[in-house]
Amino acid sequence: MSFVELRNISKTYGKNRVLDRVSLTINEGEFITLLGPSGCGKSTLLRAVAGLNDIDEGGSILVGGRDITQLPPKKRNVGMVFQSYALFPNMTVYDNIAFGLKMDGLSKAEIRPLVEEMLGIIDLKGKEKRYPNQLSGGQQQRVALARSLVKRPTVLLLDEPLSALDAKIRRSLRNEIRAIQQKLNMTTIFVTHDQEEALTVSDRIFVMNHGIVEQVGSPNEIYTSPASEYVARFIGNYNVWSREQLEGLPLRGLPDQGDMFAVRPEAIRIERPDVEPSGDEIAADGTISMVSILGNVLRFEVLVSGLPVTVDVLSGQSIEHLPSGTAVRLLIPRKEWKSVQKSS
Ligand SMILES: Nc1ncnc2c1ncn2[C@@H]1O[C@H](COP(=O)(O)OP(=O)(O)OP(=O)(O)O)[C@@H](O)[C@H]1O
Ligand SMILES: [Mg+2]
Repeated sequence: MSFVELRNISKTYGKNRVLDRVSLTINEGEFITLLGPSGCGKSTLLRAVAGLNDIDEGGSILVGGRDITQLPPKKRNVGMVFQSYALFPNMTVYDNIAFGLKMDGLSKAEIRPLVEEMLGIIDLKGKEKRYPNQLSGGQQQRVALARSLVKRPTVLLLDEPLSALDAKIRRSLRNEIRAIQQKLNMTTIFVTHDQEEALTVSDRIFVMNHGIVEQVGSPNEIYTSPASEYVARFIGNYNVWSREQLEGLPLRGLPDQGDMFAVRPEAIRIERPDVEPSGDEIAADGTISMVSILGNVLRFEVLVSGLPVTVDVLSGQSIEHLPSGTAVRLLIPRKEWKSVQKSS
């Protein structure tokens, strides 16, 4: 049975409908991510679960079978961590983590083992007497996480908790969050507009677009089989073309069906112009117009009669030295040529 259930959630500000009948279910212990561009309604949906903003008539929120739609935030037993750490600057790490338990009326003796356990989980043992300004950003965010987790919320809500951190710490902390979440089997809703982040940490991703959920799937499904032009453009560096753009190009094997197509740049092979495609490949002839080095990947832009095609190749392969202006044949396996729904 699903553990969290959002039914028909809408939210309107004036004439602006920022959530439009969103329904979704989350299993117990699952880590799901709301992924989408700025303004698509991610925070609004998350805050609705926490009770921090109300929702339009007709929607309901269930957690563990209990309808919490009308409950005030305090009674929902939901933990939330925001982008800004929002720690109490005048309290030590220990007191920040202990704060919620104290408010709940637990005694010092009851609080101590719970805080100690959390300090271990977030790996800040020995730093409990420090104040927030004596910690790095990543450490502060771990304290914010501990402060939520120590109350054993039924659901953990994370609203872009990593976006204030630099790239390296972001990557390590996202893995830590995932490990802690799995250890505690904590049902978690994570919000981000960073597709790489979503792909690495989530059990399932909900891709949002203007107040609706456009596609739901595992990271692998979302990445390899985007259902729409919108998702394809948002995830990775897909080439997205309409049939009109492709017709009349030096391209052999275009499928009969579909109006809109998406192809991952790493699914395309660059070959010499005389290499013949196999029966299950689509071939396109073009000229290299640009090569850039993205760390371990070389990114080629190939112009096929003026249409730019992005091709990614792992560094260290023999085509590395193909300069701009080289005529090439692109080979694309048919199964990598995805037909996607057109987005308006
Ligand atoms: N209190 C409010 N009053 C009016 N409009 C609001 C309010 N809060 C949010 N909105 C609007 O609702 C839409 C969704 O906002 P929301 O904060 O949920 O987006 P988001 O997906 O979290 O974006 P970001 O990635 O920038 O955080 C935006 O157009 C925003 O301007
Ligand atoms: Mg937001």
